[in-house]
Amino acid sequence: MDYKKIIAERIKENVDLELEFIEKLIEIPPQADMGDFAFPCFQLAKVLRKAPHMIAGDLVEKIDKSGFERVENIGPYLNFFVDKTTLIKETVEKVLNDGERYGCSEIGKGKTITIDYSSPNIAKPFHVGHLFTTALGNSLYRIFTAQGYKVVGINHLGDWGTQFGKLISAYKRWGNEEALEKEPINELLRIYVKFHEEAEKNPSLEDEARKYFKNLEDGKEEETKLWTRFKELSLKEFKRVYDMLGVRFDSYAGESFYNDKMDDMVELIEKSGLLVESQGAKVVMLEDYNMPPCIIKKADGATIYATRDLTAAKYRKDTYDFYKNIYVVGKDQTLHFKQVFTTLKLMGYDWADDCVHVPFGMVRFSDKKLSTRKGDVIFLEDLLNEAVAKTLDIIEEKNPNLEDKEDVAKKIGIGAVVFTYLKNNRERDIVFDWKEMLSFDGETGPYVQYTYARAKSIIRKLGNAPENIDYSKLTSKEEFELVKELSNLQNAINSAADKLQPCMITRYVLDVAKAFNKFYNSHSIVNSEDDETKYARLKMVEAVCQVIKNSLYLIGVDVVEKM
Ligand code: ARG
Repeated sequence: MDYKKIIAERIKENVDLELEFIEKLIEIPPQADMGDFAFPCFQLAKVLRKAPHMIAGDLVEKIDKSGFERVENIGPYLNFFVDKTTLIKETVEKVLNDGERYGCSEIGKGKTITIDYSSPNIAKPFHVGHLFTTALGNSLYRIFTAQGYKVVGINHLGDWGTQFGKLISAYKRWGNEEALEKEPINELLRIYVKFHEEAEKNPSLEDEARKYFKNLEDGKEEETKLWTRFKELSLKEFKRVYDMLGVRFDSYAGESFYNDKMDDMVELIEKSGLLVESQGAKVVMLEDYNMPPCIIKKADGATIYATRDLTAAKYRKDTYDFYKNIYVVGKDQTLHFKQVFTTLKLMGYDWADDCVHVPFGMVRFSDKKLSTRKGDVIFLEDLLNEAVAKTLDIIEEKNPNLEDKEDVAKKIGIGAVVFTYLKNNRERDIVFDWKEMLSFDGETGPYVQYTYARAKSIIRKLGNAPENIDYSKLTSKEEFELVKELSNLQNAINSAADKLQPCMITRYVLDVAKAFNKFYNSHSIVNSEDDETKYARLKMVEAVCQVIKNSLYLIGVDVVEKM
């Protein structure tokens, strides 16, 4: 039941304004004694040329109150108290009928959204920082899909650039075949670091690397073979992590994919009259926009990161005809994306306005006792494995007889990490703390998963409910507050999508879990007053499980039936 819509319609019967405009004004009051919905009359004052409190006083007399417990007027507000039994019945039944689709809508029907996320660099470690873009992108993917959009997930791999010339040179000089097979990224990182050390003493190495990159660009066999090998080995490692996280992509078109497409793009930039020479390089001047020039070709004729992003954006528009083209990339690239989007706009592409950079903060560690393989980089795979191992220890201690311990530990451990990344506004830095993250009673993934498992155990205990349920038995404040929470999933999805903030789902599912635990701590389900009450509660608990499961799915976290 869409109360906002119903209230808006009732108001419209009395004042001649757009339905949508009225609906947008409807608020959900912070306290239950102010009603379940409130309508402030300030905006009407201008149109009706009357004081807000007078309008409210007038409206409360005239408005159709059927289906509501009562409608009150306090000052400039109309406060709507919904009929509790109706809300409970309609919500629980809807959740159970819609099942996995509960919360979904068709807002995005017929529209496509492309999301560029994760996009790590080949031959470089896939580290803890990458989880931010990966988890955010994966969650936005699922959120937009729930809104009915067709979503295209793109992994814009960093698989091109002069660094590959260095890597080829380093590999030919110091590469160890066995080590490459066993731990490819470590080996590639080792020789890459060595290259830089050696090049400091012997600058001619840089020339050698340039030569190899040129050969690679010209498609020479040996260089291409090595590059392909580096890429395949890296991808194998990345995919192992994606599998652990349950993350997938529709396209792995990385930077090299645009090699044969950049000439056309550069020509288009040239034709639009934007390309100028500056110190030998070809650039687009952006000083009118208070930005340094966007470099298209370096003095040696080589294209760069920005050239590939310009080409990729045009390719995405041509291929997918996106409604929105989203980039989930760290804050440090804000200028880069501004330059790219502004250049596209200057080229006359209005769809440049549909390109969005979604930045995020950094990851810090409060506890430095993390295993690092090399230097300061913490490999994401190591972090996830450590989370699983630590969870397994907790299970061994608390519930050693649990079935499928390993699988449960994986879902809880990895879920705890992902939950931490998506808990707060994405622009905030994450301070990583094992103890806090794995705790069962903070604002954590394990807390929500535990709530789910506990609810599931109640359902297992009580078995099936009879056909006819008397929802009027659910009269307590806790039950009403809980079901009201359940009715809010679609609102949460829509706000998360509008603000590009998956944390709105994370906060929502925490609210559901808290409301459930409040209910659970003050009422016994198994020993309810009578059978009718017991079964009405059982249905409500089933709905709680569905809502938690759907919400956690949207942030990329699995549930476990027992823990
Ligand atoms: N590979 C880049 C990096 O690691 C991120 C790429 C983001 N996507 C893009 N279209 N520029 O910094």
